[in-house]
Amino acid sequence: MSGTDTVDDVVATIARSAIEIRQGLVGRRGKADVENPSGETQAEADIWADELLAERLTSIDGVAQYASEERSEIIDCEDEAYCVAVDPLDGSSNLKSNNTMGTVFGIYDEPLPAPGSALVASGWILYGPITTMAYARDGTVTKYELTGGEPSVVEEDVTLPDDPLVYGFGGRVPDWPADFREFAREIESDSSNKLRYGGAMIGDVNQVLTYGGIFAYPALEDSPRGKLRLQFEGNPIAYLIEAAGGRSSDGSQSILEVEPTDLHDRVPLHVGNAELIDRLEDVLE
Ligand code: F6P
Repeated sequence: MSGTDTVDDVVATIARSAIEIRQGLVGRRGKADVENPSGETQAEADIWADELLAERLTSIDGVAQYASEERSEIIDCEDEAYCVAVDPLDGSSNLKSNNTMGTVFGIYDEPLPAPGSALVASGWILYGPITTMAYARDGTVTKYELTGGEPSVVEEDVTLPDDPLVYGFGGRVPDWPADFREFAREIESDSSNKLRYGGAMIGDVNQVLTYGGIFAYPALEDSPRGKLRLQFEGNPIAYLIEAAGGRSSDGSQSILEVEPTDLHDRVPLHVGNAELIDRLEDVLE
């Protein structure tokens, strides 16, 4: 984290900015009356956090592109090398109720939109009771606590616990396809599993990273690509969970193999312990 290359600089900048983003949420909890490219009403904080990250990340040497869930167009920079995709405030609908939210980032070595196989690093910041970061690079996951100074490592070589404990599934049950409903019923009826769903993907996926289990925002009857965005949410999450020994799937293949057609593509997202994702794929076949 000492800023030895562009990737380190990007991650250090995001980690530093996260402290300011957290503080800047006060007074920015209202709606901005504008929609993001996915048709969701933006919070004032969504726009502010996006502008803050765009300004800082585009000025780093070696950053070629900045893209965000909160803006339609990519910002192209003069440098070449790495393309950074962020969801500045994942789960910002939790702002009103003051529940968990996060910041998600993916660093690609191909122009966006790019497949997850082009990621060289990814991570997320969790604005929980304290601010933490989970970061994956070179097949290794590290957890940090962020206080404003140098990020402090709390755990290295993080892997998903072997015995899965938690599950969280997004979307309304009546909107789930019958095969996913069948899978969910199987998981729920296993008495070793506990429901954990907070409405912010990062909070829910971080529970899976901590306790083992499965998080999904599946395909829906009227939205076969689900809700979550491939570049900004699906790929970074999948890269980190796979680096932690888990699996990701769009229903039939790793999320990292999904070829994007548009910057704001959506993807059905399922991540967690490998045996649960294997079972899911069997049911969805
Ligand atoms: O991407 C937006 C998001 O807020 C995710 O963080 C979260 O998992 C999902 O939407 C929640 O959606 P819903 O309100 O449909 O449960």
